[in-house]
Amino acid sequence: MFWETKKDNEIQDVVLSAVSKNVNFRDNVLLGVPGTHLDEKVFPLNDTVGDNPFLTAFVANPNHIGMHTNGESEIFFAGTHGLENDVIRICAEEIMRAEKDSYDGYISSGGTEANIQGVWQLRNFYIEKFGASVDDIAILHSNDTHYSVYKAANLLNINEYSIPVENESRAVFPKDLRLTIEKAVDDGIKYFIVFLNMGTTMFGSVDDIELFVKELKAFDIKFNIHIDGAFGGFIYPFTNLNNKLCFKNPFVSSITMDAHKMLQAPYGTGIFLSKREFSEFTHTKKASYVKGQDSTLCGSRSGANAISVWMILSSYGSEGGKEFCRELLERTNILCDGLKSRGVNFYRNKFMNIVTIPSTELTVELARKYHLVLDTETNPKWFKIVVMDHVKLDAINLFLAEL
Ligand SMILES: Cc1ncc(COP(=O)(O)O)c(C=O)c1O
Repeated sequence: MFWETKKDNEIQDVVLSAVSKNVNFRDNVLLGVPGTHLDEKVFPLNDTVGDNPFLTAFVANPNHIGMHTNGESEIFFAGTHGLENDVIRICAEEIMRAEKDSYDGYISSGGTEANIQGVWQLRNFYIEKFGASVDDIAILHSNDTHYSVYKAANLLNINEYSIPVENESRAVFPKDLRLTIEKAVDDGIKYFIVFLNMGTTMFGSVDDIELFVKELKAFDIKFNIHIDGAFGGFIYPFTNLNNKLCFKNPFVSSITMDAHKMLQAPYGTGIFLSKREFSEFTHTKKASYVKGQDSTLCGSRSGANAISVWMILSSYGSEGGKEFCRELLERTNILCDGLKSRGVNFYRNKFMNIVTIPSTELTVELARKYHLVLDTETNPKWFKIVVMDHVKLDAINLFLAEL
């Protein structure tokens, strides 16, 4: 076995050179990518380790293994577990309107893991509480749902039923919803894990939770709802104060939010929130060497990531968060007005910063030049723009001028 030892300055050169070969959110015009650089207020470019609490925590390397909102946890890292619990409190109580002390949660590797965790705990809930078999359980979701739903169904060995959406409104129509539930019931499904979107990946569309609950109640079945707010969780509740996809709805058992998308935290900062009565169903007693055992999917994870989310939430406060989202919507409105005045069709949920344009409206070359996201590489039907922090008015105007 052999690989060479490199000197410190060589390591620095190699890493900096590798990073410089990636796209740069600050200097490139990237209209489609649903990610951006770290929040500038909390992570200034020229900080050294000692100046920056995140970098200090990163180097100290606390492990946040397990869930810390309920019961015992590892004592070695109790200090920073407290910060993670505060993040979960803000997200569950303040943003997603849970009752005090009625929830659990943790910082996951991302939206995919949090979505799988939500489905996993509901699957186990149906098996353990009602004696269901995996064949009796299915995920119900719209066609526009993120592909992590298929990973969850595959990993957990349960069925999934996809409901068509209407092409222009991206909405699920009641008739299609009813027909899909009927088909599942005919197939012997008795327990539904309803997977609803607070901002779909390609469109930013938001599912109508009241419609789903109304239609599902008409059947003799059991159902609970997981909400995927991986993209929308840090914008939609801030821009639509009447948001109904939250813990106030008695059928909602869990919610995914992603700090590494809209909140501009480092990657590895998904957020999983659960009503407390459901979180015990993923509790692994075999994790005997972990104090308090483990209810999470991932095991060991970075405490520094949790701290970064706490820092961003604390640096803005709720009012700063609303103002930040308001500014993004304003820029999105300018983009939409520009498209309208040029007669270009598009889809947009008015509370979201995603604008999706049919591929018939502009050339693939232009979409590629501005790094719009294509729904598929071959024969794309849609091009997506996401007005993230780095998508400034200059870039929007440049794109509109070229249309
Ligand atoms: C709506 C939605 N859900 C889930 C995910 C998966 O998130 P991650 O890439 O953090 O696993 C994404 C990612 O784009 C998403 O847009």
